[in-house]
Order: sequence, then C-alpha cells, then structure tokens
Amino acid sequence: MQLSHSFAVLLAVIPIVVAQSAVWGQCGGIGWTGPTTCDSGSSCVVSNPYYSQCLPGAGSAPSSTASPPSPTNSAGLPGSTSTVNGLNALAKTQGKLYLGTATDNPELTDTAYTTILDNNMMFGQLTPANSMKWDATEPEPGTFTFTEGDQIADLAQTNGQLLRGHNCVWYNQLPSWVTSTTWNATGLTAAIERHVSTVVGHYKGIPSSSDQLPTQANLPFQSPDAWDVVNEPFNDDGTFRSDVFYDTLGESYITIALNAARAADPNAKLYINDYNIEGTGVKSTAMQNLIQSLKAAGTPIDGVGIESHLIVGEVPTTMQENLEAITALGVEVAITELDIRMTLPETAALLEQQKSDYQTVISTCMAVEKCVGMTLWDFTDKYSWVPSTFSGQGDACPWDENLVRKPAYDGIVAGLQS
Ligand SMILES: *[C@@H]1O[C@H](CO)[C@@H](O)[C@H](O)[C@H]1NC(C)=O
Repeated sequence: MQLSHSFAVLLAVIPIVVAQSAVWGQCGGIGWTGPTTCDSGSSCVVSNPYYSQCLPGAGSAPSSTASPPSPTNSAGLPGSTSTVNGLNALAKTQGKLYLGTATDNPELTDTAYTTILDNNMMFGQLTPANSMKWDATEPEPGTFTFTEGDQIADLAQTNGQLLRGHNCVWYNQLPSWVTSTTWNATGLTAAIERHVSTVVGHYKGIPSSSDQLPTQANLPFQSPDAWDVVNEPFNDDGTFRSDVFYDTLGESYITIALNAARAADPNAKLYINDYNIEGTGVKSTAMQNLIQSLKAAGTPIDGVGIESHLIVGEVPTTMQENLEAITALGVEVAITELDIRMTLPETAALLEQQKSDYQTVISTCMAVEKCVGMTLWDFTDKYSWVPSTFSGQGDACPWDENLVRKPAYDGIVAGLQS
C-alpha cells in the first residue's frame, strides 16, 4: 500500500536520536528531529522558532547588557537594583506561561526599545496595542488590511514569543461605516461574523508574510495563544455598555462573536477583556454573571482578561479573592494590560509605592493557579498611553522614558518570586 511504503522510506531517513544535546548544541526548532533536552548544567532556550540552543545554566540571562540595573533613574530618583535580567524567564520558572508586553508598530523603529522588546527572556508574549483592532483591519466593509498586524505577529514569531490577538469586537476604534450605519440585527450579525472570522482566521496557522520565513514547506504560522474577542462590554456600574453592538443585538452580540472566533481558530483561548474588574464589586459581578450564562448556554469562553490599568496606592485589596471567584466559574484569567499610573511629578515615595503595587498585582497572579500570564501595557513610559489619556498622570511603566529600569521592575521581580 502506498501509505505504508512512504512511511517505511520516511523511517529510514530519520536519524538515530541521541538522548541529550551538549551545551551550545541545538535542542529544538521547526524541522529539528534531534534531542530536545540538554546535558545537566545547561537548559534549552528558544532563540527563534527554527533554533533552540542548550545554554549553560538554567534560565541564565542573555548576554545583552541593554538596560542593566541602575541605582538611579533618569531623573536622579531611586532606580532598580535587581540583577534579574529576564522577567519572562523568571515567570516561566515559577510556573506561568509568560510575562509579556503590549507594543505598537511606530515603536518598532526604535532600536534601543526593540533590543529590550525582542529579548524573549524578558518578554515571552506580545500584544499589538492597536494594529489588530477593527479600524485597522477592516477600514471599509469587507476590505481587510493586515500589514501592521502581521508585522507584530511576525515579530513575535521571530522572537519566539507568544501572541495575543487584540481585539475583535469593541465599542471604540471602530471605522465610521460600523458606527454610522443604521443596522438591523441580520445585517450587523453578518458584519460581526465576517469581521471576526476573517481576522481570527487570518492569524490562524497561516504564514502572514511568507517572504520573511525560510523556504521550508508547510511552516505553521504561530497562531495567537489567546484572543480578546469581546473588549470592554460593561459600564462601571455593571450594566452593559450602550454601543452599536448592544443597542442592535443585545447581549447576543457576545455569543455571535465568540462562536465566530471559535469556528475560525479552534485552538485560540477566547477571552472577554475589561477594566475595573480587578477587585470585587458590581462590575466584576456582572462579568461573572455573563461568564456563567455563556457557560450555561454552551457558548465557547475560555478566559477573562483583567486589564489592570491601576493607580499608585489604589490596588484593590480584594484582587486575589476576585480572581479566585472568576476562575471558580471554569475559566482562566490573565493580567492583560498592566500599568500603574501616578499623579505627576514622580517622587521617591511614589516610585516606592509603585514598586509595592506592581509586586502586589504580580504576586496575586502568581497566587491564583488559573491566572496564566501577565502583560504590561507597554514596558516604558516613553510609549505609555497614560499621559495623553489621563491629564497630569503618567510614569506608569516599569522602565522610564529613557528605558532605564525603575523600582517597579524590582517589584515585578519580587512578585514573580513570591
Ligand atoms: C437588514 O439590513 C440588510 C443590510 O445590512 C438589508 O439588506 C436587509 O434588507 C435588511 N433587512 C430588513 C428586514 O430590513
């Protein structure tokens, strides 16, 4: 039979596999059929999707000296003193899937920034801050543009980082054809289904820019590990947000979007993402009620994104209790957009409180078994969204505007070690 003949030939060409690779040897990558474990004293570290290498020491720091600890920040205030050079490596050692960061296309020409961003010991996951949103991906009905989203998907793949799809259905950053059309239910349902299935389908298992990949056959494009399918569906009082989707379809738009996403990529974890659901309260209760009703109806839902755009000194004391209550419903959670802003100007005391607040949030995720990972909403004040959104506030990230680590970095390290 043709099939068994081919199989016998295939077996004959597979090399004899030795047990372990020596230090500096290859231990993985697409097409690699050799050993995937390393001799003692070294560990297998992903360099890129095509090459993993046995490096001395377990989770040892990369040789890059970009952004080392500095006892003072750019303003002469206290800085970071931690000698840990890999937040993601530490998060994985401690049992989480990743510590990652949001990024945005205009930032990718800044090589001082990308030197830190591209280091998968530091960041194991990327979220595109803008370029997979509806206005970016379907600016005209049925006309899709993926160039910028692909740039970040490709970057994650090249760097050996996970990708979070962000986002499919949200009241904000919509093209005017969505917001200005007088929809009926049938028409808007079809528009949601086309948008979600096309965008999620595009990033599922397809080389997004095949000219950037080696010419091996059938290379898998790295699908997003998770998608924020529905973003920010609630008002702060726990009622559903009035927008074109809810006003036309009621809650059913959420089910429509989740079903379309599952059909388009059965392997991606499907999330609903929101803010002000970090601690207990009416908005978290509303989210939990939604999750329960979706589960009861058999709608695919895998996780709740806890955005965590927080304020220095105001991390909710009920965060762990709240995350445990959400995961008890049979979903995972992730910290998806962490930053902790302060009223400017920054002071040594504010930086110290911010360090403590970062530690609290990260240690909370560490303490909750089904909190799978943590994403910073960009890692440097240079590219933070905060100053342009919240007047008089800023300095929300663990690296300052000159890419120097702040005490908040040490807070993350301490949180990961808890
Ligand atoms: C609903 O809207 C679509 C266009 O989106 C239109 O073709 C259809 O005729 C409308 N149906 C009704 C019942 O008005």
